[in-house]
Amino acid sequence: MTYITLNNGLKMPQLGLGTFLAKDGSEAYEAVKYALEIGYRHIDTAQMYFNEASIGKAIKDSKIDRKDIFITTKQRVHSNLENMEKAFNESLDKLQTDYVDLYLIHWPNHDPKINLSSWRFFESLYESGKAKAIGISNFQQHHVNTLLKDAKIRPMINQVECHPGLSQVPLKAFLDEVGIQLESYGPLMRGGVFEGNYKEVLESIAKKHDASIAQVVIAWGLARKIVMIPKSSTPERIKENFESLKLKLSDDEIKMINDLNRGKRVYTDPDNSPWGPYVI
Ligand SMILES: NC(=O)c1ccc[n+]([C@@H]2O[C@H](COP(=O)([O-])OP(=O)(O)OC[C@H]3O[C@@H](n4cnc5c(N)ncnc54)[C@H](OP(=O)(O)O)[C@@H]3O)[C@@H](O)[C@H]2O)c1
Repeated sequence: MTYITLNNGLKMPQLGLGTFLAKDGSEAYEAVKYALEIGYRHIDTAQMYFNEASIGKAIKDSKIDRKDIFITTKQRVHSNLENMEKAFNESLDKLQTDYVDLYLIHWPNHDPKINLSSWRFFESLYESGKAKAIGISNFQQHHVNTLLKDAKIRPMINQVECHPGLSQVPLKAFLDEVGIQLESYGPLMRGGVFEGNYKEVLESIAKKHDASIAQVVIAWGLARKIVMIPKSSTPERIKENFESLKLKLSDDEIKMINDLNRGKRVYTDPDNSPWGPYVI
């Protein structure tokens, strides 16, 4: 496993398992249990995925030391302090742990005051040790800049949509400059990398390495020093994705993948999301 050191010194496994749409119950449980068996040590979930309880059980049943597993979860909506505390404690209960490694604001609100008041709560969790790292998700550069004006603690991570169709070069350069690690979600474009022009280019690279398209995409992100969390509930794919750690692409191949960028989103645009007061 390779590790990324966050701006507070915490080491984070650079490859993790995504779990969005892994159904609570046997699907999420088996996926996480298998992933831990073959060497994953980083699991990404969220209050909004409604699968934290199965993930917590799989982690417990793995018998792996809690300190050796990196768990990320996310707060669903910004709300008052009482509701945010309740949501955080529910996540801890479901995950059967007394701390998370990384806690993220899932989506920015259109109202910066709301983002800041949520961040104050996150800062208090960090100070109490209940979250070893805190961060944001789906924050555009302007959301980050606004938050940084008043943040006492700099976010350690920004988890955003990032894949060959949306390579996030400007956002990554900005985050590197301000010391916030970029984490990619939707690395396989929810399946889009297996289609059309993406498939053609990625397959040509994959063939040269006797690898798969998914492995090429994950290796591309790892080479860019991005944290990657491909989701799968299929054992063969969970293993295939893990083996990307062994794949090293050439500079030319990385450039070929960079050139696929079309600014294409497969998820909601954070500037046009339904969260918060949105004046028309
Ligand atoms: N912060 C946010 O707002 C946010 C938003 C979205 C996602 N995320 C996080 O990022 C993770 C990854 O993103 P994602 O789940 O949207 O999409 P993704 O990882 O880009 O793609 C997942 C899809 O690809 C398939 N797949 C996985 N490995 C494959 C392989 N080797 N070959 C062929 N198909 C493969 C999966 O199928 P099977 O499962 O059927 O194998 C699933 O349908 C999420 O699970 C979640 O943890 C965060």
